[in-house]
Amino acid sequence: MSDSKPQCPYQTQQFGRPVDDNQHSQTAGPRGAMLMQDVHLVEKMAHFNRERIPERVVHAKGYGAFGTFTVTNDITEYCMADLFSKVGKKTETFARFSTVGGESGSADTARDPRGFALKFYTDQGVWDLVGNNTPIFFIRDPLKFSDFIRTQKRHPQTHLQPHWRRWDFWGQVPEALHQVMFLYSDRGTPKSARFMNGYGSHTFSMYNADGVRHWVKFHFKTQQGIENFSDDEAIAMAGKAPDYSTRDLHDAIETGDFPQWKMCIQVMPESDAADYHWHPFDLTKVWPHDDYPLIEVGTFELNRNPSNYFQDVEQAAFEPGNLVDGIGLSPDRMLQNRVLSYPDAHRYRMGVNYHQIPVNQPRCPYATYHRDGTMRVDGNGGGTVDYEPNTMDGPKETGRRNEPPMPVHGDGDRYDEFPCDDKDYFGQPKLFWEKVLDEGARERLCTAISNSMLDSPERIRNAMINQFEKVHPDFAEGVKSRLDAPAEEPIPIA
Ligand code: NDP
Ligand code: HEM
Repeated sequence: MSDSKPQCPYQTQQFGRPVDDNQHSQTAGPRGAMLMQDVHLVEKMAHFNRERIPERVVHAKGYGAFGTFTVTNDITEYCMADLFSKVGKKTETFARFSTVGGESGSADTARDPRGFALKFYTDQGVWDLVGNNTPIFFIRDPLKFSDFIRTQKRHPQTHLQPHWRRWDFWGQVPEALHQVMFLYSDRGTPKSARFMNGYGSHTFSMYNADGVRHWVKFHFKTQQGIENFSDDEAIAMAGKAPDYSTRDLHDAIETGDFPQWKMCIQVMPESDAADYHWHPFDLTKVWPHDDYPLIEVGTFELNRNPSNYFQDVEQAAFEPGNLVDGIGLSPDRMLQNRVLSYPDAHRYRMGVNYHQIPVNQPRCPYATYHRDGTMRVDGNGGGTVDYEPNTMDGPKETGRRNEPPMPVHGDGDRYDEFPCDDKDYFGQPKLFWEKVLDEGARERLCTAISNSMLDSPERIRNAMINQFEKVHPDFAEGVKSRLDAPAEEPIPIA
């Protein structure tokens, strides 16, 4: 039954006529052909044919829940955002977790980064932090995004998903290696959203009430502990319970076991950026904790399941450009591009009025001069003035300009702004191999990579092994020896 009021005790057609028979179509006599005049049947079938909207071009498989963010530490020296204004302040939230490459019906347990998209319904507008479970990404220039994503999708001729395509791409794009190592490490197959960290990944800015800017990175540390599937478990679970992680979050919330993450930030003074030894706006790099330690901000808790999946999760529209006063962008070119890309995708997927869908609506008062467009259902401004400036007391700009100016300079051209030497490509992957992974984790990394490379031809394998060699000779040897004596049958090349 629809949620619309008043509640109707009997079934109707969509314009309210009572349905007298929902079991039998109209026919010419009991054995006769169908009658075209069966309006109820035609309406029912036609609505059904239109039930699917385009799925997200990436991150199509996902699940989500509502929750609360509570400030536990004062960061007003860095940020004037109202949601951080005092310790104890609570803000309503929504989160959606996803895999990246698979279709809407694909398995939750695939080896893939996980989307970690958060919506904060603040008193000053909606803030979206659209991150992943990794602090870095495969590329650092948006011009490569669609090419990269195609390597994760289906082959144009066979509609299969051979892995050699991704290795072919990564072999030519060494800046991807850091994220590739994360992906094929133990954390590439998290059990469910509850057991993984989240990251804003990009560098953002925060500014305080005096207009002083700092660069920041956001971290969400799971309070449930990290738990992953092994490669074999993830593959088995994809057959046995492909929606494993969806159910895990739903059932935990349903039984009152509310998952929590500790939100932390790393803070870099604006002036450090010019000569910090890692490029601070390069999305393939982290800021080492010793240089910029984590500062606690608050607790992010999920505590309410959606009442309807399509309404709240499928129609959720996140966009990195949804910011609030106190939080801003950075010169990271990936972030700058995402600001355009997401609302464009939403207009295509759900139409221009997607902001009216309850999960996307601000919870604070709002007033734009937008009017009309498909599916306008909020009164469309009624008879109120629809242009500005006006003399009819329509809503006006606040005149408050809080964000400090973002310095930009230079001549418009296509630049490679990154150093692109061995330290740049392999410096942090080396730290990851040497400092973060223990012996067992290194072995499992080599096994997962070599299993995935079994369908790759020699030239593609060699390009990757050359990269692994620059991280550590044991890494190259670990993968090579497994490829030379595979435990599994190679998958036929599509
Ligand atoms: P630290 O020793 O201070 O931190 C290591 C980090 O690695 C922790 O955040 C840990 O997360 C995370 N980690 C552990 N295992 C994995 C894994 N399999 N996949 C992904 N992350 C993992 O190191 P530094 O800050 O000095 O950085 C050293 C290297 O650690 C970096 O080059 C980078 O590769 C990696 N790293 C760094 C992060 C950062 O923001 N500085 C974040 C994640 C990884 P946890 O604490 O939750 O266990
Ligand atoms: C979803 C584009 C990089 C995280 C999407 C969508 C698009 C997109 C078009 C689908 C949106 C929709 O239909 O609702 C891009 C582009 C990128 C980029 C062009 C680079 C230039 C990233 C990065 C991250 C990320 C770096 C993480 C740090 C996500 C998440 C979703 C998503 C979590 C799913 C949001 C949801 O749950 O609805 N991306 N993306 N993306 N992207 Fe990206």
